[in-house]
Amino acid sequence: MISVILGMQFGDEGKGKITDYISKVYDDVVRFNGGGNAGHTVVINDKKYKFHLIPSGALQSKTVILGNGMVLDLEELLTEIDVLKVANKNINIKISANAHIVSKMHKFLDKQEESIRSNLNIGTTSMGIGPTYEDKYARTGIRVIDLSDIEILRQKIGTIYKMKKELLKDSIYNDENERENLAKDLYSLGEKINCYIDYTETLINAEYKTGKNILFEGAQGGMLDIDFGIYPFVTSSNTIAGALSSGSGFSFRKVDKVIGVFKAYQSKVGSGPFPTEIIDDDSLRKYGSEYGTTTGRPRRVGWLDIPLLKYTSMLNDVDSLAITKVDILGKMDKIKVGLKYLIDGKEIDYFPKKLKDFEKIRVEYKEIPGWGDMDEEKIIDQGYSALPKNMKDYLKLIEDEIGKNIEIISLGEDRKRTITKEIFN
Ligand code: GDP
Ligand code: IMO
Ligand code: MG
Repeated sequence: MISVILGMQFGDEGKGKITDYISKVYDDVVRFNGGGNAGHTVVINDKKYKFHLIPSGALQSKTVILGNGMVLDLEELLTEIDVLKVANKNINIKISANAHIVSKMHKFLDKQEESIRSNLNIGTTSMGIGPTYEDKYARTGIRVIDLSDIEILRQKIGTIYKMKKELLKDSIYNDENERENLAKDLYSLGEKINCYIDYTETLINAEYKTGKNILFEGAQGGMLDIDFGIYPFVTSSNTIAGALSSGSGFSFRKVDKVIGVFKAYQSKVGSGPFPTEIIDDDSLRKYGSEYGTTTGRPRRVGWLDIPLLKYTSMLNDVDSLAITKVDILGKMDKIKVGLKYLIDGKEIDYFPKKLKDFEKIRVEYKEIPGWGDMDEEKIIDQGYSALPKNMKDYLKLIEDEIGKNIEIISLGEDRKRTITKEIFN
């Protein structure tokens, strides 16, 4: 079984929780995009794990692979590896020799770039993601394989400095000694991860040949995709299913199942259009503790957006859906679902690209009643049939609109607070 799991909204859909839940049946879990901008929370019997780089499926799988499409902050990675090794003693960790390295210089550049974007400020996570991918595509980036060669590190840091001198003029990297220190720091961090480095594209394909079950785990969400998200308020990598091939070296032709994760409502960190945003009521943020795992920033919240979900369902060619946080949404007395986008009173049949179009959008909503607090123990015990009727109606409405089945329903942050409509395999 080869599957890929993805976020269908603006990130933070609860992918970490769902990935952990389904990961038991997979031998290998592979991450193929993003870096420390991701923040995934997994809760098992009240114990909370927060990962940024390590795939959320790592707690139950045998091997985790950090693919070439990722950008890695080595200090953060070493911290997470320590946590993982305690939680899953026999885990096998592999890091692609081709993945790119986020240095402290990239983090400085991230903040500098944001400061000059003015009204098109993205609200990045300041984790150095954009500048690291810029260097990758400028062909000046530092790769994992470079870490064992101090001369290459010096040369690459020198080149990046020369290319971005204007942005770096107020940083410590103006000083040649600091650039030398950066090269030495990366070299010594490289020594610590050396034992995990592998030619992972070959490894993944070999695992496939021996019949292993592999789960590809996407970070962020469809609306943050560099090509199809609401540009420029996006991240610097592709976040849709197809990215698994370029981000890991494994063919999309072998994927059996695409699982799209979405939250029963929506949240967004950072700036940019959010058609179904709730401006005047912060109940959902409070009920759902909607504060960023990576930055702690309050997340913007809004109602479920069907046109947006239809778009990301198409882009990912989703086979089945997983919904999270239905327990939280049910606390609202009245629930709204965004059904259509109207511009000048007419429904539009495309997902907008112009920022000006987003200003004109009026969302047509359907209002439905909430389902209040639930007897969760009974539901976990008895499954789908024990769900409140109003919730079932909500789920059915979504399935009808998107045209896909909801197979996994998440009713709480803990792994055990999850039900499936069919047995997942
Ligand atoms: P990710 O980035 O998509 O992995 O999502 P995050 O982990 O950043 O954010 C989702 C948050 O919601 C985390 O704190 C999860 O523990 C929590 N969560 C996930 N699913 C549920 C759910 O069904 N109910 C509740 N109450 N919390 C959930
Ligand atoms: P997970 O995997 C939510 C958002 C940032 C910002 C934009 C660009 O936890 O779902 P970046 O630092 O990537 O250059 O920021 O993208 N963003 C996320 N929002 N969840 C994430 O990851 C995100 N990763 C990036 O807030 O708006
Ligand atoms: Mg997150």
